[in-house]
Formats: sequence, structure tokens, C-alpha cells
Amino acid sequence: MNICCIGAGYVGGPTMAMIAKQCPDINVTVVDINEQRILAWQTNELPIYEPGLLEVVQESLGRNLFFSCDIDKAIYNADIIFVSVNTPTKTFGEGAGRASDLQYWELCARRIKKVSESDKIIVEKSTLPVRTAEAMERVLHSEDNKVHFEVLSNPEFLAEGTAVADLNNPDRVLIGGHETPSGKKALELLIQIYARWIPRDKILTSNVWSSELSKLTANAFLAQRVSSINSISALCEATGADVAEVSHAIGTDSRIGSKFLQASVGFGGSCFKKDILNLVYLCETYGLKEVAEYWQQVVEINEYQQTRFTKNIIKSMFNTIAGKKIVILGFAFKADTGDTRESPAIRICKELHAEKADLVISDPKAILNAKDDLSELSNVIYEEDPYEAAKDADAIALLTDWSTYNNLDFQKLYEIMRKPAFIFDGRNILDHKNIFNLGFEVYSVGKGRLSHLN
Ligand SMILES: NC(=O)c1ccc[n+]([C@@H]2O[C@H](COP(=O)([O-])OP(=O)(O)OC[C@H]3O[C@@H](n4cnc5c(N)ncnc54)[C@H](O)[C@@H]3O)[C@@H](O)[C@H]2O)c1
Repeated sequence: MNICCIGAGYVGGPTMAMIAKQCPDINVTVVDINEQRILAWQTNELPIYEPGLLEVVQESLGRNLFFSCDIDKAIYNADIIFVSVNTPTKTFGEGAGRASDLQYWELCARRIKKVSESDKIIVEKSTLPVRTAEAMERVLHSEDNKVHFEVLSNPEFLAEGTAVADLNNPDRVLIGGHETPSGKKALELLIQIYARWIPRDKILTSNVWSSELSKLTANAFLAQRVSSINSISALCEATGADVAEVSHAIGTDSRIGSKFLQASVGFGGSCFKKDILNLVYLCETYGLKEVAEYWQQVVEINEYQQTRFTKNIIKSMFNTIAGKKIVILGFAFKADTGDTRESPAIRICKELHAEKADLVISDPKAILNAKDDLSELSNVIYEEDPYEAAKDADAIALLTDWSTYNNLDFQKLYEIMRKPAFIFDGRNILDHKNIFNLGFEVYSVGKGRLSHLN
């Protein structure tokens, strides 16, 4: 069997590497228009950072896992084609700022149709609006031809930073297919592939539309939890409650559960915001104004939380940060990835820069992406070493939960910084009492400040 995957990004690369590892008898070819990415997948410097991924790729590379720019050949030879291209938010025309931009997906569908001479199963791996499969089927079957394309929806639930573990041992795999004989046959074939390493009861099936909507809903619910606890963090700061204590207290209720209840500077990543906006747009399209407004608020609270963090820095530093050196510890949207798409650090840095702060950006994996994201800002310094970055700094703003930041020598940092030395812990991961005792002014999210000043 030959599998082709169009799109060698954060999803296409890892998911296909896992299928190739688990199914040595299946040839998996990942293709992309981005030549640099395709080349990088075949080196020791993969185009994305993901713990454990290099080993998984190298196990199958050249055996049954291939990366190529010859898209037509891979499509032609494939029995199953996963489409894992990007589906960003539309920036123009109808639905701009909310709807999904499906141009990359449609280009793929047209290419598949043009090149194919045998029946194929097309698997939606990208996150797509409900009923995209229907539109794609129309494109694929737009003229009379003998080739049959069966479209399945198989959204990806991996989380960056833990992609390998998530792919190896997922909570569930979801496959949506049509209730027709050819739909059922295609569904069964894909189930057989996943069943090689995933228990059968974790492979869920549904109709195509439920599968498409489940992915958007999963991301909306996850993001909603972050915004919910962040909204409470603002109230904690106003009232003297401690958000960590509140999270713990509510998280022990088994109906609520303890995960995703950590107050912070907010969620980031390429998916949450884009997928919620997409959900909002879908609701509006179907005339569900109140539902659209409900979900829109999840995004608004996220942006409010980031701006609130910036305002807190300014207020704490005597209402001016002009000419003050602020070190950003962590630019990636979360730990264990170099991905900075929609990272809260982007907005916070822009807001601090607008107040004329001197920014130094530090991150173990995301410096290159940060440079791109902040290319329009002048005089920003990038320094991977936190100690170099903190020399003569007035403040540290910790924005990514890299575990290495817990092990920093805060005594040393305190000594090399200007006084009063401020720490703003945007992820609530540091030992606040300990660093306060070293002399720092300590601010976190949803907790009282620890200050020596009054
Ligand atoms: N990143 C995640 O954690 C994650 C998780 C679950 C689902 N998703 C979804 O998966 C999809 C892909 O996300 P990603 O993060 O991998 O995106 P990405 O931008 O990292 O990768 C997409 C790749 O597709 C390629 N591409 C675009 N058009 C192409 C074409 N016509 N032919 C060949 N290649 C083409 C791009 O060059 C790019 O390398 C999105 O819909 C996203 O919402 C992402």
C-alpha cells in the first residue's frame, strides 16, 4: 500500500513518521511545495522541534518513509492521500479575520483530480470547517471521470511539545466517513492502519460532519477552559484570592477535572484562535448569533489577559518602562516547541515595545521564529543565554513554561540585574516565595504581588 501526505508541517511530518514506524510494510511519502522543509526532514536538524521526533523519523527514513517535492508522482502512486496543509484564518474578502482560508486545500484537491488515474481515499487531516468534505467532493468529481475519490475526515488531536507521545498513545483517533458501501470500505481500511498500534476501542467513527465539527469543538473547549480560569485570575488579583488554590479546589471535582486549569498569559499556537474564529464564523453563517458571540468571548478574554499582563508590568514599574531593559524569558507559545504562532509573547512584546521598553528575547528553541515575528520592531536584542540576557536588566517577564527556567540560578540573576529587580511570572511556574526572599519584586498571574517596596 502507498500512502501520500500533502503538507510536511507540524502535523504531516510527525503523523506520517508514526504511521511509517508502526507499519513498515506501507510506503509513506510526505510531499510539500516547500523544498527547504522537505530537505530538512531528511537531516538531523528537523524543520520542527519536537521531543523524540528525530528518532521516530530516522527509524523509517529511506526504508518506508520518504520526503519529496515530486507531489504529482506521490499522488499518482498513492492509494490513500492525507491532506495536511495549512488552513489559516482568511485575511481578505468575505469572512476575513474569522473564516478558514481554504485555498491551499482546494489547490490540493484540484491537483489530486488532475493527476489521478486510479481510485483513491482522500483523508482530511487538516482542521476544516464543517461540510468542507462536501465541497471537496464536488471539486474532485467536478467532471465526468472514471476515478472515484472517497473522502474521510480524520482530524489530528496531537499537541505540540508532546506530539510523539500523543501519536503513539492517543486518547482517541476519530474517523468520519459516509454511510455508503464505498464510504464504509474506506473507513475500514483506515481503521486497519491505526489498529496496528492503537486499541480498537480508542478508534472512534462517526459521520463526516460530526468528525469535522468534533475537532473544532475540542479546540474550542480546551481554549475555553484557559479563558475561564484566566478570567477568574483577574478577579483573584482584585480580591486577594489565589488562582492556584482556586484551580486546585475546583479541579478536584471529578466533573471539572484538573487539566487545563493553569492561569497564565493565555493560550497560543496556530490552532486555538483560528479554530474558534472558524467556529464563530460557522455559527454566524447558520444564523446562530448568540452561539457565535459566546465563543467569540473566549478569544477576547485571551487577548484581554495578555494586555492585562502588559499593563501590570507598566503599573508595577512605576508607570513607565521607557528605556528600561525587560528580558522576555520564553517566546514559544508553550514549552518543548520552537513554534511561536499566535504566541502570547508576540502581543506582549509589541505592547512593551510601544511603551519604549528595551527588549531582550531569550528562548532555548524559538529565537529564529521570534526574529521573524518581531521583524518590524527596532532595537530588539535576541540572546539565548538567560544570564547574558539579564545583565543590567530591570525586569524579567517569563512567558513560556520551559522547565529549565525553574532551575535558573535566581541569586545570580538578581545580582546582575538593576535594582529594584522585577520578575513577572506569566506562567506561574516559579517558586515565588524563594525568589522574593532573594530580593526580587515578584508578580504572577492571579496571585498577590510580593513586594519589598512598601
Ligand atoms: N500544529 C498543530 O499542533 C495542529 C494540531 C492539529 C491539527 N492541526 C491542523 O493541521 C493542519 C496543518 O497544520 P500544521 O501546523 O502542520 O501547518 P504547517 O503550516 O506547519 O504545514 C502545512 C504545510 O503544507 C504545505 N502546503 C501548503 N499548500 C500546499 C500545497 N498546495 N501542496 C503541497 N504542500 C502545501 C506548506 O508548505 C506547509 O509546509 C492545519 O489545518 C491545522 O489546523 C494542527
